[in-house]
Amino acid sequence: MTDPLFDVSGRVAIVTGGLGQLGSVYAAGLAERGMHVAVFDVERGEPPEGVTAYEVDVTDRVALEAAEREVEREWGVPHLLVNNAALDSPPDAPAAVVGPFESYPEESFDAVLDVNVKGTFLCCQVVGAAMAREGRGSIVNVSSIYGILSPVQDLYAFRRARGETFVKPVAYSVSKSAVLNLTRYLATYWAKSGVRVNTLTLGGVFDEQPQEFLDAYEARVPLGRMLDAHEALGAVVFLASDASSYVTGANVVVDGGWSAW
Ligand SMILES: NC(=O)c1ccc[n+]([C@@H]2O[C@H](COP(=O)([O-])OP(=O)(O)OC[C@H]3O[C@@H](n4cnc5c(N)ncnc54)[C@H](O)[C@@H]3O)[C@@H](O)[C@H]2O)c1
Repeated sequence: MTDPLFDVSGRVAIVTGGLGQLGSVYAAGLAERGMHVAVFDVERGEPPEGVTAYEVDVTDRVALEAAEREVEREWGVPHLLVNNAALDSPPDAPAAVVGPFESYPEESFDAVLDVNVKGTFLCCQVVGAAMAREGRGSIVNVSSIYGILSPVQDLYAFRRARGETFVKPVAYSVSKSAVLNLTRYLATYWAKSGVRVNTLTLGGVFDEQPQEFLDAYEARVPLGRMLDAHEALGAVVFLASDASSYVTGANVVVDGGWSAW
């Protein structure tokens, strides 16, 4: 039996960055629950079963409009937009990118802000406009504990102890903070149009990180472990469904208690 409170079957979803670690879990999980799911990603790849992939750069308004129109033609106006696509600096990023703040490259700052902030803004404009015309919809903007709090640089001390230079860079944190107020702005702007807009803030996701990092991270999180990617899906289903009909402008924090102490 499907609980009508959480029933999303027959609805239409767009997940940006839907071929990545978390996006593919959302796309598969929403499709399993009967949603028509489109992923917008710059990468080409095999989407999960029942999911259609569109090659779209979220910083490209024209491409977004074309893909959104195709989704509408195929299934109708989206009910759910998950703004999940983002750039972070990988652990093996060039030295300047993970070097001191004072010399953090301007072009890296622009690249991260372009995808994480402008990309989210453009997706909200293009897909949110269609939702507002339809008089309903739910937008989930993805943030991070590094967007509500500073990164704990001590987590990376093991790399410095090995002689590497490593500072968790600034641009990701700045971009993920911006998402929080884009959410609040749009939640109030579209409140009367039936479009709910919320932030989903996640803690660090387990991805075979080095043991020294895991030890340091786990010691700092009340639940004592990193997030399993599948544990982020529940909040997305909640925000997609009628169970969250009175939730807008909120920040749903799924961080194992990281921000509680
Ligand atoms: N992994 C974590 O520990 C963690 C923690 C907190 C928040 N988050 C957030 O969750 C989201 C997903 O993270 P992830 O770990 O799955 O990342 P990921 O790198 O595995 O996936 C990101 C996806 O976005 C796509 N992408 C990048 N630039 C794009 C663009 N311009 N247009 C379209 N697609 C683009 C990539 O191709 C990739 O498939 C991000 O918003 C991230 O900030 C992740």
